[in-house]
Amino acid sequence: MTRAAIVLDCDPGLDDAVAILVASRYADLVAITTVNGNVSLDKTTRNALVVAQVAGLDAPVHAGSAQPLVPHSLDASHIHGENGLGADIDIALTRRVVSDDAVGFLVELVKERDDIHLVAVGPLTNVALAIRRDPRFASRLRSLTIMGGAACGGNVTPTAEFNIFIDPEAAAIVFDCGVIVRTIPLDLTKHVIAHAAHVDQLRAADTSTSRFVADLLVYYGRIGATVKVPTLGALHDPCAVLAVTNPELFGLVPRHVDIELDGQHTRGMTVVDARRNVEPADQNALVGYSVDASRVLRMIVDASIDPRPAT
Ligand code: RIB
Ligand code: CA
Repeated sequence: MTRAAIVLDCDPGLDDAVAILVASRYADLVAITTVNGNVSLDKTTRNALVVAQVAGLDAPVHAGSAQPLVPHSLDASHIHGENGLGADIDIALTRRVVSDDAVGFLVELVKERDDIHLVAVGPLTNVALAIRRDPRFASRLRSLTIMGGAACGGNVTPTAEFNIFIDPEAAAIVFDCGVIVRTIPLDLTKHVIAHAAHVDQLRAADTSTSRFVADLLVYYGRIGATVKVPTLGALHDPCAVLAVTNPELFGLVPRHVDIELDGQHTRGMTVVDARRNVEPADQNALVGYSVDASRVLRMIVDASIDPRPAT
C-alpha cells in the first residue's frame, strides 16, 4: 500500500511531538517544517529535532517563521511548558536543521513533486507565506489539512482556537487561496483525549519513544489532574495526520469558512457557515465533526511505542 507523502508543519508542542511519531509510522514523512506558536521558533525547532533524534527519524527539519504576520508575543507555554515539551528534556541533541527557509523549501518541493500532502498543525504563517511567494503553491499540493479552528467554541478565547488566533491573517490567506482546506477543529479533537490508561500502556511497552510520550502525556495532563476522570489532554495534532492516512476514521462535511480579523470578541474565529449545504462554488473547506476516537487513540499509542513505518 502506498503511504501518503506528508510534510508536517508544526509548533512542537506536546501534541505536535506525538503527531510527528504518528506521521512517521503511518505516512511517508518527507519533511518537518517548524513555526512559531506554542513556544518560540527556536524552541519549536529544537523540539522537532529532539523528537526526530529520540525516534531515529530521517525526515529533515526546516525552520520557518519566527513571528505571525501581525507580530505579537502570545504563546502556549503555560500548557506545553517553557521549553515546549513539558518538563526538561535531558538529551545531547546532535540533529541539526537542514535550513532556516521552510517557506522556500515548501515552495520548491511542490514544484518537483505532485504527491505532497501538507499537514499544518500550528499557526498557518509558513503556509500563508508560501502562498504569497507562489500563488500556485496550494494548487500543487495533493491535499492541505490543518488542525485548527472551532465551529462552536474556542480554547484561547470563547470564539477562537489557538492556531488560528495566533495568526488569523495567515489563516485568512489560506482559507481564501482557492483550495479545499481539510479542517480538523476542536469540535472533533475534543473527543480524542489521552487517559492514564494510555500512559500505563506506554510505560509497559518500555521503548525509548513510549517512555518519551508517557512523560509528555503526564505533563500535558497536569492541567486536567483536578478532574474526576484522569484525562490527560486532547491529542489535537495527531488527528490531522490520521485524517490523511486513515480518512475512514473521520467525518468531514463541505463548508464555507471565513476568518474573523476585526471582532473585539471574535478575532481569530473560524466562522463556519453550517446554515445549509454549501454551494460547490462557495465551498472552501471540509470540516471535521466526527471521529472514531478509540481507533485513533489506539493508532496513536501504537505509533508512540514504535514510530517506524508500519509494514
Ligand atoms: O488548539 C490546539 C492547537 O494549538 C494544537 O495544535 C496545539 O499544539 C496548539 O498548537
Ligand atoms: Ca500544534
